[in-house]
Amino acid sequence: MKRTSHISELREIIAMERRRGRKIALIPTMGYLHRGHLALVEQAKQTGAFIVLSIFVNSLQFGPNEDYSSYPRDLERDAHLVEVAGVDALFHPTSEEMYPRPMVTYVEVGQLDTVLCGVKRPGHFRGVATVVSKLFHIVQPDLAFFGQKDYQQYLVIQRMVSDLNLPIEVCPVPIVREEDGLALSSRNVFLTSEQRQEAKVLFQSLNEAETCLQAGERSAREIEKQLRDRISRQCHGVIDYVEVRDAGDLSEVTIIERPVLIALAVKFGSTRLIDNKVVEVDRYV
Ligand code: PAJ
Repeated sequence: MKRTSHISELREIIAMERRRGRKIALIPTMGYLHRGHLALVEQAKQTGAFIVLSIFVNSLQFGPNEDYSSYPRDLERDAHLVEVAGVDALFHPTSEEMYPRPMVTYVEVGQLDTVLCGVKRPGHFRGVATVVSKLFHIVQPDLAFFGQKDYQQYLVIQRMVSDLNLPIEVCPVPIVREEDGLALSSRNVFLTSEQRQEAKVLFQSLNEAETCLQAGERSAREIEKQLRDRISRQCHGVIDYVEVRDAGDLSEVTIIERPVLIALAVKFGSTRLIDNKVVEVDRYV
């Protein structure tokens, strides 16, 4: 596996592969990798493309009171994991390499960033869209892989690519979970054992919401209410949001008639967990 923290060196590596006729796949990450990230690698491998995985904890997407400085980091462990997983090139730039001077140019994806996590984390999606756009320009991938764990982020990137005519295929990857259903996240390491136990209620309640839909419930507010009740009854987590929205554009839904995203964010102490489920309602008509 090739490995570099320099943009110019990465560009040389990629140019050589392109001359050999290889397609290029990009997997952007912030490191502290787990099986969720490795599922992106697995899916990328199936395309036969040359796989570039980036690790960069992007200060631009963290709010002033968020966990940028305490975000978990372990580059050597990550490098070993991705090498074994079959990544071809690991790009781990420093902040100075990515942001040599203060940014004055940003990419902002409107509408989609005004709901769900966008409300709770102002500027977050601007930071994500900007760094992913920089990575897209550095790597110029044919394919880019994003997990549905961050469903809103996936939609934001897909919309950015479409609005700006970027010649990149954005590939979604299903959520990878622990045995008890908790979605894998680099932030799970911050949970106490009690919080970790309780956190499984998030997935359970999403499943329960799906069962309600299957049973014929069509009121988005009712589904949200049941989810909220269950979460506050069964754990000490503090609900940030629980919402049912259109799965295509995150617009508001009252009566569920199209595929919906059931999304939630819950804080366990200072650890904020997100999870979601897309439910295709016509399956149950
Ligand atoms: P990070 O949280 O490291 O996630 C990197 C990628 O892994 C994202 O596409 C995310 O959706 C995916 N991922 C994380 N946990 C997953 C899981 N349990 N199942 C499936 N996919 C999972 O998301 C970011 O980094 C950053 O915002 C980034 C896009 C790199 C921009 O800085």
